[in-house]
Amino acid sequence: MGGTDETLGRAASRNVTVSAPSGRGAPTSRAADRMSGSARGEGEGRSRGGPGARRRGCHNGRVTRASLDKQPHEVAAMFDKVAARYDLTNDVLSLGQARLWRREVARAVDARPGERVLDLAAGTGTSSVPFASAGAFTVPCDFSLGMLREGKRREPWMPFTAGDATRLPFADDAFDAVTISFGLRNVSDTDAALREMLRVTKPGGRVVICEFSHPTWAPFRTVYTEYLMRALPPLATAVSSNPDAYVYLAESIRAWPDQPALARRLQDAGWTRVAWRNLTGGIVALHRGFAA
Ligand SMILES: C[S@@+](CC[C@H](N)C(=O)[O-])C[C@H]1O[C@@H](n2cnc3c(N)ncnc32)[C@H](O)[C@@H]1O
Repeated sequence: MGGTDETLGRAASRNVTVSAPSGRGAPTSRAADRMSGSARGEGEGRSRGGPGARRRGCHNGRVTRASLDKQPHEVAAMFDKVAARYDLTNDVLSLGQARLWRREVARAVDARPGERVLDLAAGTGTSSVPFASAGAFTVPCDFSLGMLREGKRREPWMPFTAGDATRLPFADDAFDAVTISFGLRNVSDTDAALREMLRVTKPGGRVVICEFSHPTWAPFRTVYTEYLMRALPPLATAVSSNPDAYVYLAESIRAWPDQPALARRLQDAGWTRVAWRNLTGGIVALHRGFAA
């Protein structure tokens, strides 16, 4: 797989409340400004369920992977089960690209000392660390208690918070930036989550979404789809504590909207100045927007 592609898009449980900071911030993200352009009116979203869309894995009566209708309890249970080896598996299955993608997310969010950053669907908190290291007050939030526990064990100093992306346990306008890495695809109601993210972002604040997407070059897309459907499941069997979860991963990536379609959903949720940037040929896309 190649390096970073600079293509520009055109286009509940315990509730912990973070109090809204005072003042109305102006957009300050230099990195996010590099992703300029309008997302309006481009491309169509894909929604390919495929024959396995309704199947789900079962081990000794326990659900081992979610189905594509993403029932929240199934998704949370699936991530509870992979928590211990989640980061290692990521590194292996992404062929080392995951670290590069995380660096690009950190650049796009461009967290500053004194800012408040919400890392939604933060899992074990690996995606949250760069924002905290940049000096921002960073809240990792997730609804899998297994992932949160593993994160708390590793990074006890971080304020891990249990919460559902579709009903966030935070006050309006609480954050300067909200970000979500490899999480939005797993949320049962994407549009509700996008609206909730906007609600907790203060005016002028920003969102950065890092998610698997659709390679833009057709021959590469074919090779990648083969990798997803054929090579990834056996690889996952070798390294993951729950290989079934990676069958769900492959299916959910195929069913996820492409870059322009996700951009339109951000706009429909109320985000402005929406744009995206492809990484690794479009295997991953970073979408950003601003709260008006
Ligand atoms: C693939 S992991 C990503 C973790 C982390 N952001 C990263 O980049 O390593 C997806 C996470 O999304 C969480 N998740 C899925 N749906 C959620 C929801 N509705 N609310 C909160 N977290 C959710 C899962 O529990 C899981 O920890």
